[in-house]
Amino acid sequence: MAGVHNERSAYKVVVIGDMGVGKTCIAIRFVTDEFTTQEPTVGAAYLTQSVLIGRLPVKLQIWDTAGQERFNGIVSLYYRSARAAIIVYDITDRKSFDKAKDWVQKVQEEVHEGIVMTLVGNKADLEELRVIRKEEGQALAESFGIGFLETSAKSGEGVPELFVDTARRLVEDDQRRNVKPKKRGISLTMRGSGAPGEKTGCCLKFS
Ligand code: GTP
Repeated sequence: MAGVHNERSAYKVVVIGDMGVGKTCIAIRFVTDEFTTQEPTVGAAYLTQSVLIGRLPVKLQIWDTAGQERFNGIVSLYYRSARAAIIVYDITDRKSFDKAKDWVQKVQEEVHEGIVMTLVGNKADLEELRVIRKEEGQALAESFGIGFLETSAKSGEGVPELFVDTARRLVEDDQRRNVKPKKRGISLTMRGSGAPGEKTGCCLKFS
């Protein structure tokens, strides 16, 4: 999975959700297979990782967006140009679940129909603190017609599955529509407060 070379396809994937639900930890778990405590994201952070779907190397360009309210405006800049959206809530926090529902609605209203979406209940390791039952998450995802998974960035549970499944659905989507996936694009690396393309702050890149 990791370290696949000669990627031919690249897809932009955006990770959205309330502050502190674990978006950065999920992305970092996927890219480095580590769990480390992170500072709140400012603007968005960019990471890349490649996976093999069948024999096709696929590069995921992951935009991990900031969950703090003050960044909500710029988050839409990221999902509007994304091929996939991962919307995360924390299974121990009902407010984050309600927020995830709002995000799903917003993305579905504003974005092209073909966007591949998955609702993710993170922090599944905190079973004793759980307030959102798995069935409730599943039911919400079903009501929107999108994918659903529970993950733990801490234990790693569900994280590779989340991104591999996203990549697989994107490849299948292109195959169905007989579209050639985009060639590997430029690797803009940023961790700042600006819009995509605006070079601000320092860098966080794993590729
Ligand atoms: P913003 O950048 O503010 O939007 O937050 P975020 O959604 O990126 O959250 P982040 O990844 O920074 O994680 C927030 C806190 O939750 C940190 O203290 C993490 O250690 C913790 N955390 C993240 N994922 C998990 C998980 O799966 N299980 C547990 N127990 N804690 C987690």
